[in-house]
Amino acid sequence: MKKNDSNIKKAIKYLNNNECIGIPTETVYGLAGNAYSDKAVSRVYKLKRRPRNNPLIAHYYSINSLKKDCEIDNTFIKLYKKFCPGPISFVLKLKKKSRVSKIITNNSNSVAVRFPSHSLTRKLLKKINYPLAAPSANISAGISPVSKQDVVDEFGPKLKFILDGGPSKIGLESTIINLIGKPHILRLGGINSKLIYKIINQLENKNKKKIKIKVPGTSKLHYSPGIPVRLNAKKNYQNEAYILIKKRKKLDKNYFYISKTNNLKQAAKNLYKTLRIIKKKGYKKIAIENIPNINIGEAINDRILRASKK
Ligand code: TXA
Ligand code: MG
Repeated sequence: MKKNDSNIKKAIKYLNNNECIGIPTETVYGLAGNAYSDKAVSRVYKLKRRPRNNPLIAHYYSINSLKKDCEIDNTFIKLYKKFCPGPISFVLKLKKKSRVSKIITNNSNSVAVRFPSHSLTRKLLKKINYPLAAPSANISAGISPVSKQDVVDEFGPKLKFILDGGPSKIGLESTIINLIGKPHILRLGGINSKLIYKIINQLENKNKKKIKIKVPGTSKLHYSPGIPVRLNAKKNYQNEAYILIKKRKKLDKNYFYISKTNNLKQAAKNLYKTLRIIKKKGYKKIAIENIPNINIGEAINDRILRASKK
């Protein structure tokens, strides 16, 4: 515990100096900087090699700290009460007097916000008086990191400090919902879209508004492991790494289990880690067996589909 406290102190020192640091979250590790500081967030973009027109998520401790910066409505409050802190991000309207850096909003009047549940990062957020802008802590378009070592592998000594919070529990990024206008999901993720669906439709039943699920495929190379990925593979070909979620009788050195019992939560947690291991071993091709498109399987399929696009 004492070690954690001194690491949080260190983290705050870096952040107060407009440096960026690695932070653990329950979804994936983030590359964090003071979201009120143009200087800090510029460093995040530079280190990550992120195109400047791609906005960042601001991470807050609670609704109270958020209220200064964003307009909130009943739909937001209901979803916040149900899912936060947790793996969901909301696109909200900025208040005129908001202090959020225009850089992370791409100069627009909206911002994506999130309340991560990881205990260390919550401790950190509680102690600072600014939100943290934090994209996933990987070089743009690559695989998100799910451990401190993954972040080290991405940035090496260029990143001066990483708060070590152990392996990410969920292993896939947050669900993103746009609450401006008709609510719609922009990215599938840690919270099942149907659960969100249910709550919004209960709220908006009177207006017969139905939530629309839209998965943007803007960047084809997103979540790319950098080698070809073949989906719904019934078997593997020679020299192909084969990602499986159910145990096979046969032994094969090219088999990589993300679960042995068809457990989708476990599969989500192990997916990015396994993709990294496969790359490190020098494979040039990956095959993945069919993943059931239910619960977090939806988000897994979204990521591997994008990973499979050339
Ligand atoms: O789980 C997560 O959300 C992780 C952890 C670190 O919190 N963060 C994360 O951030 O995945 P990033 O930047 O890697 O992905 C955020 C996505 C990007 O595709 C970005 O385009 C989109 O969210 N986004 C950010 N701000 C937005 C906005 N104002 N409107 C629409 N999309 C936005
Ligand atoms: Mg990312």
